[in-house]
Amino acid sequence: MTAVGIDAIEIWTGKLKLDLPETFAPVKDEDPEKYTKGLGLYASSFPDSYEDIVTMGANAAHRLMERKGLTPDDIGRIDVATESAFDNSKPVSTYIAGCLEQVYDGDFHHANKGERKFACIAGTQSLDDAYNWIKAGRNRGRSALVIATDTALYARGDPGEATQGAGAVAMLISEDPSIVELSTEQGYGSADETDFLKPNQQFPSVDGKRSMQVYLARMREALEDFERAGGETHPGDYVFGPYHTPFPGMVRKAGLFAFRHTIRDTDIEEELAAEIGRQPREDDYDDREAFEEAIRGYMDDLKATDQYQEWYANTIDPTLRISREVGNWYTGSVHIARASALQYAAENDMEMTGKKLLVGSYGSGAQAEIHAETVQEGWEEELDQLSIDEQIRNRHDLTYEEYEQVHDRHNHDKRVELEDFTEPENEFVFVGRGDMDERTYEYVE
Ligand code: CAA
Repeated sequence: MTAVGIDAIEIWTGKLKLDLPETFAPVKDEDPEKYTKGLGLYASSFPDSYEDIVTMGANAAHRLMERKGLTPDDIGRIDVATESAFDNSKPVSTYIAGCLEQVYDGDFHHANKGERKFACIAGTQSLDDAYNWIKAGRNRGRSALVIATDTALYARGDPGEATQGAGAVAMLISEDPSIVELSTEQGYGSADETDFLKPNQQFPSVDGKRSMQVYLARMREALEDFERAGGETHPGDYVFGPYHTPFPGMVRKAGLFAFRHTIRDTDIEEELAAEIGRQPREDDYDDREAFEEAIRGYMDDLKATDQYQEWYANTIDPTLRISREVGNWYTGSVHIARASALQYAAENDMEMTGKKLLVGSYGSGAQAEIHAETVQEGWEEELDQLSIDEQIRNRHDLTYEEYEQVHDRHNHDKRVELEDFTEPENEFVFVGRGDMDERTYEYVE
């Protein structure tokens, strides 16, 4: 059977940076360690005045196409995943295709375009759609372009304000991919939840604490469903676990739950039993409350074991390196977690070909998906070409007053003009609105 998966990745961060411990914390009168140690975040990315979800997505896609020597004729499908769209009818993929057509001789008239919405999990759903399209043999030799692009803004003063971010991830989905093959096995955990939503509004209504509980509950359901689908979950089977990362502290919590779940009835649970006992089983308790208290005690003990700490340091922590510096990118977040882990593997000369990742995607509202990925032979060459570290270093560091101006500039209800902080070069930029209030774009040299 032909392998299908991710053949190339490009990442584009918004060009501005808000330093959380240095700039944000003092104004909020908070301890900087709430951000660095508690949430696990150092900075958020923001778009400059001339950037938005279209420019970031188009620039990532353009760079990917240039690097792979592709023309529009090689692409049969453009799917955009976003929860920051500004148009309820015309999909963002048409705007992005329009940008790309400015710089290529051919066009994308033959390409199926769409926009996926299910909060942050839409990026992975778009990967799945592309995978299914190729597996069904409908691609006529062409690849799919999947673009996850978001400007994750919260209302000023909302607790989520500290977890904002902006950027795009473009991925090429092809037969015989160079980076990872996706597994056939998938597991889902999906339920009607009102933890985080945007009922025709730009900034989300969020029940922050509940959203964290829903994340954990749906992830666990998805893991169980993945096991029912025949997927392996023993921690020893996976080198990295990239999860959706709204902020690294969330993944720290999810990692402990995942480890507990996946060591149950394994050699690892037995090995740990001498030190912390076996995991409490619900059948052994008369009431749910007593069982939950026992589980909490076991989790505290588990967290302190060398086995858990080593697993977390090797399998989860490397997935968080980019996220710490850029914040939440919603649909792109799990995809920067994968890239972050593979970059770490390349820097540490790890032998990855044939090794596996257990990928946990999540979207509020809410749905989780677990699938596995097998690393392919060309992974290192692809990852070496990423420029995200340099982009992160080159961002303009905003003062708090500038941050407020930038937040207003990207507020859809305000029409605020603002000088650019950086100079665009060889990229698509937003230039204004047309007669039908459509947003318009140009490529600048
Ligand atoms: N030193 C060290 N740690 C500190 C600290 C200090 N001085 N001060 C606080 N902390 C810790 C806290 O103990 C807490 O950690 P624990 O949860 O492990 O106890 C952490 O820092 C955060 O502190 P608070 O809980 O007090 O923070 P908060 O209430 O201001 O906001 C939040 C946290 C509710 C998650 C908020 O950021 C939020 O609403 N975010 C948006 C929603 C979100 O991201 N939800 C995640 C799941 S939903 C999802 O994944 C979809 C998505 O992308 C949005």
